Amino acid sequence: MSELQLSTKHLLGIKYITADDIHLILNTAENFKEVINRPIKKVPSLRDITIANLFFENSTRTRISFELAEKRLSADIVNFSASSSSVKKGETLLDTVNNILSMKVDMIVMRHPAPGAHFFLSNHIDVNIINAGDGTHEHPTQALLDAFSMKERVGNLKGKKVVIVGDILHSRVALSNIFCLKKLGAEVMVCGPPTLIPKHIDQLGVEVEYDVKKALKWCDIANVLRIQLERQDIKYIPSLREYAMYYGIKKSMLDTLNKEIVIMHPGPINRGVELSSDVADSEHSIILDQVENGVAVRMAVLYLLAGKRNLAKT
Ligand code: CP
Repeated sequence: MSELQLSTKHLLGIKYITADDIHLILNTAENFKEVINRPIKKVPSLRDITIANLFFENSTRTRISFELAEKRLSADIVNFSASSSSVKKGETLLDTVNNILSMKVDMIVMRHPAPGAHFFLSNHIDVNIINAGDGTHEHPTQALLDAFSMKERVGNLKGKKVVIVGDILHSRVALSNIFCLKKLGAEVMVCGPPTLIPKHIDQLGVEVEYDVKKALKWCDIANVLRIQLERQDIKYIPSLREYAMYYGIKKSMLDTLNKEIVIMHPGPINRGVELSSDVADSEHSIILDQVENGVAVRMAVLYLLAGKRNLAKT
């Protein structure tokens, strides 16, 4: 496996890693994808390492994907879910993590509802931290697995046109994808109702389009996001029915384009809202490839960060 190293000890967000880091992770993930498709899917790379998966927010794909990646690398793992922990009794995040670390844990994978929770921890603890999603801020491994899946389908992303459709305002996947795709040289557009597009997002170097049909005509790849009602404190759209009518992607829309287009979604999908089932399950869709590739990409991240263990904070 690669002798090259990441420039950072933690994966806090795509904003804070370099294009070379991204290429290194994606290239390493190609090797791991080959490994997990062998009859014996396991390698001894992290045999002496203990990883704690701390989930303070719900997850299906990310939690299982990290756990499988760790097991495929032969790490020892412990899983923590906030809903069944002493967090419910008022214990702070730092006390919780320090108690877990005192049991000789080497790396932390964490999902937390507070944007910046991982930054806060990185200033107080000394083990590698991987962000598995922090509120509306970043979801770096999702963006990496998305980039890996895009490359697998369309090749080099330099100059490729990617539109991110939906609830951009509340989406950590959108922000991490924007940073990642821009670093890889793709052209990026965001599309959704004006209320769900952050003000000044054009300053990140992305185009803004409110008409989904125009956005689909423009792009090679559409990464479609879920409407995150659980993060919406006020009403941003009149109803899901109206959103589906104007922004939901249907097979009839794709048929009028008369071109190849790749459809992605990080999951979980609201079928019939952001995507109709005949699009989600069509030949255009690489949604399950994204999930498969998540394991290889997370193996690459864990493996490369393990090479940065016991170094001074970076
Ligand atoms: N894509 C994603 O983060 O899914 P989960 O919330 O199920 O982990």
